[in-house]
Amino acid sequence: MRFETLAIHAGERPDKAFGAISVPIYQTSTFAFEELEKTKGYDYSRTANPTRKVLEDTIAQLEGGKAGFAFATGMAAETTVIHLLEAGDHVISGDDVYGGTYRLFQKVMHDFGLEFTFLRMDSRKKIEEAIKPNTKMLWLETPSNPLLNIVDIEMAVAIARKHNLMTVMDNTFATPYLLRPIEYGVDLVVHSTTKYLNGHCDVVGGAVVTTTDELTERVQFLLNAMGTCASPFDCWLVLRGIETLAVRMRQHEANAIAVANYLAEHPAVKRVLYPGLKSHPGYEIAKRQMKGFGGMVSIELEGGIETVKSFVRRIKLFSLAESLGGPASLAEHPATMSHASMPKDFREKVGITEGLIRLSVGLENVDDLIDDLRQALEPS
Ligand SMILES: Cc1ncc(COP(=O)(O)O)c(C=O)c1O
Repeated sequence: MRFETLAIHAGERPDKAFGAISVPIYQTSTFAFEELEKTKGYDYSRTANPTRKVLEDTIAQLEGGKAGFAFATGMAAETTVIHLLEAGDHVISGDDVYGGTYRLFQKVMHDFGLEFTFLRMDSRKKIEEAIKPNTKMLWLETPSNPLLNIVDIEMAVAIARKHNLMTVMDNTFATPYLLRPIEYGVDLVVHSTTKYLNGHCDVVGGAVVTTTDELTERVQFLLNAMGTCASPFDCWLVLRGIETLAVRMRQHEANAIAVANYLAEHPAVKRVLYPGLKSHPGYEIAKRQMKGFGGMVSIELEGGIETVKSFVRRIKLFSLAESLGGPASLAEHPATMSHASMPKDFREKVGITEGLIRLSVGLENVDDLIDDLRQALEPS
């Protein structure tokens, strides 16, 4: 089955009990045993739940992996994956990853004995120089949040294989519709399903897709032991969202390209970061490894924070809000919102300036979006 079909039919559908076309929400904490040590496949919903299972199978198939797991949030998924490591292990991570990922690594896991190096994943030499005897994992995000940098996945995987490192890809921005990291040899894919997979801004959720039996067993163990799983209702919402993922992503991208082209010509805009623009340093790699460039556009405004304040006060269709990937267009200010947990000097070194705004280009009519940006960028 092809992507669009899998998104609607993967997993056990229609439901076995009554043939329900919409996956039933098994809103139960526990399941009756038939006799001692004999269940109908489920015993307790933290361990596994039939609604969750359909979502997990669907995401696993869309990513082309071995098994999927659904979590309460994207951060719950990441927290679970980072527990595959042990105190004393070292991780090399992209330097402009989601701010919450940075916070989890540097302000939580660091205190449990994990060591992190954050760097721009754009050169084999730089990555190899950061590898130490205790390095165990490469943490990748492409396109990255919020700078939309592109990592050459084949390069990263080749380094990881040579040095026996596990590769983890946060595929939240691209989604499996645009990028399938497992096809390039990535070991684990993580998602904030809060974003495009759910696609409606009405749930927080996360997912992990594995590629080996060993990783599958270990992630299942950690999910159950740590209790990081998603609720049945939230799984149902994400499942409903995934059914339209392909059509939504196509429209997000078409709108984002038009918005990026408009902004690239605007005198109030210092730079536009969108991997679909030929001027973007990752354009060629993105074109090669992705099916499209996605719906996220970051811009830096001339005039810094004062211009940002005026812009966010004036936008009408775009809402000033965290998150991304829903039908409604959103604008956010990474320095004070999504990446506020990064120390200021690190943030600035990475390039997340006070003048940077991240746009999640929604599914509205693109002419209305451009009209809104035009009036918001007018000199006040
Ligand atoms: C790329 C990326 N990964 C992970 C997360 C964390 O996901 P959640 O907010 O669902 O915990 C986010 C949230 O913004 C994100 O943008």
